[in-house]
Amino acid sequence: MIKPEKAREQALSFLTEQGLEREFLENASLKSDDAKELISIIKEYNPQKILEIGTFVGVSSAVLGLCVPQAQIVCIDSDLPVEAQDCLCLRKFKISNKLTNLDFVAKLINYLGIAERFALHRGYFSCCFPHEEDRQKLINNGINIQTREIIGQGICEKYGPFEVVFLDADHRKAAVKSDLKLLFPYVVSGGSIILHDVGSDYWGEQVRGAVQDFLAEYQHSQFQIRGEIGFILEEPQLAKG
Ligand SMILES: C[S@@+](CC[C@H](N)C(=O)[O-])C[C@H]1O[C@@H](n2cnc3c(N)ncnc32)[C@H](O)[C@@H]1O
Repeated sequence: MIKPEKAREQALSFLTEQGLEREFLENASLKSDDAKELISIIKEYNPQKILEIGTFVGVSSAVLGLCVPQAQIVCIDSDLPVEAQDCLCLRKFKISNKLTNLDFVAKLINYLGIAERFALHRGYFSCCFPHEEDRQKLINNGINIQTREIIGQGICEKYGPFEVVFLDADHRKAAVKSDLKLLFPYVVSGGSIILHDVGSDYWGEQVRGAVQDFLAEYQHSQFQIRGEIGFILEEPQLAKG
């Protein structure tokens, strides 16, 4: 089976050929070590169905699709123009690409021959940029954030429950807390919510802060960290292991 780092590389090469700058892609997507960690955690669950929240242009989606070949993968992204990601990141690349994230995801999964296992959905998961600074950055760059709806509840009702969720969307504390709260009832007992960017930098603090608040409310869950990947486990999994 294809290794996660190779799957990631295939995605990056294709997206670069599509005109996206490699450094920009690498800055906003899963790193090679994260891809390995993500897949090694997911394999422990042998999931038939995965929910991915926050696809960007599809690097992590491709890794999931190629390395977890038995799984159906439901994806949600706010699907703003690709340049929106450049407005929000701390590091800037002067991107002015008007195509949207899911345009690239759709092309990529077609190219990789895995599209039939994916359902791509455009919209906000549980909230629309709760952090005022982010809203202003997007509005100042002419990006209309009101064109998408909040669809998480409907998607969870339609496809849930999930054995594994990969949450890699808005990293602000308020957004992560809101996403976790909506998600939790739709994760099977013994399943896991995996989060990206839980390291010691600014974004990591936001994400870990949200998880801490969440765990204070849902005390039967536990949080583990492996590099930049964190995962919330429910009790039955803890009992097993
Ligand atoms: C860090 S990127 C995801 C990177 C991707 N998982 C990868 O590794 O290739 C975050 C993505 O979350 C999306 N996003 C931000 N807020 C969102 C929300 N409330 N609901 C759904 N998607 C959101 C953005 O459009 C962006 O594409």
